[in-house]
Amino acid sequence: MNCMIKNELEIEKMRISGKLAAKVLEMIEEYVQPNTSTEELNNICHNFIKQNDAIPACLGYHGFPKSVCISVNDVVCHGIPDKNEILKIGDIVNIDVTVIKNNYYADTSKMFFVGKPSILSKRLCKVTQESLYASLNLIKPGIPLFKIGEKIENYVESNGFSVVKEYCGHGIGSSFHEEPHVLHYKNNNKIILKKGMIFTIEPMVNTGKSEVKCMKDGWTVKTKDHSLSAQYEHTILVTDYGCDILTWQQQEKILPSLNN
Ligand code: MF3
Ligand code: CO
Ligand code: CO
Repeated sequence: MNCMIKNELEIEKMRISGKLAAKVLEMIEEYVQPNTSTEELNNICHNFIKQNDAIPACLGYHGFPKSVCISVNDVVCHGIPDKNEILKIGDIVNIDVTVIKNNYYADTSKMFFVGKPSILSKRLCKVTQESLYASLNLIKPGIPLFKIGEKIENYVESNGFSVVKEYCGHGIGSSFHEEPHVLHYKNNNKIILKKGMIFTIEPMVNTGKSEVKCMKDGWTVKTKDHSLSAQYEHTILVTDYGCDILTWQQQEKILPSLNN
């Protein structure tokens, strides 16, 4: 019995949770505008999740005070939405959404631009998203887990950016964080991917150095050198010949089902 393998019924439920998490990111896009507070965005996400008979998993998770994480510019992850944090033209914003629907979790995040992004911001987000996609392209039963981190780190570093080492992707199902830990850099995890595994991949990438520091609020993580940071996250299912992106959004220029 392998506790990392989901059965058909669990997979069906995870597909539903994944679609809802993706819809939250599709829905929120039009609201990411100058002069909007990150708390307003949080509240719109919160209400949408509740209206869809689901629970925002971040709210109260180890005491996290809001329903989604919103991380702006040099915030790497776990940004706390705040009524005094007002978006301005040029900001880059990660919204990280985790929903619980029918007792199953799905976890996804993407970057949004407020107005026109700088050339550097745009390149950072593109490289981060492409590093995630490059790793998805490798996934199929039989490959070792470490291939994912190796691909992401090589891709990011060959583009002159750095990968954050402190946070990793994770198995996900009827709990938020399960085995395995999915590192986004070179490692030695020889676990072999099998059909039915469901986990997240969620690289955090900095324009400067990879070091981060946690703020006094106990949550907000920033780059130590104040450089910009981006993150993209998908929840994926290992299939017979590749993977399904359970949190795939309509507008993504990659297929929801990748056959390798
Ligand atoms: N969504 C994050 C992840 O990708 C976890 C956020 S935990 C919170 O694993 F408490 F900060 F919301
Ligand atoms: Co996650
Ligand atoms: Co997440």
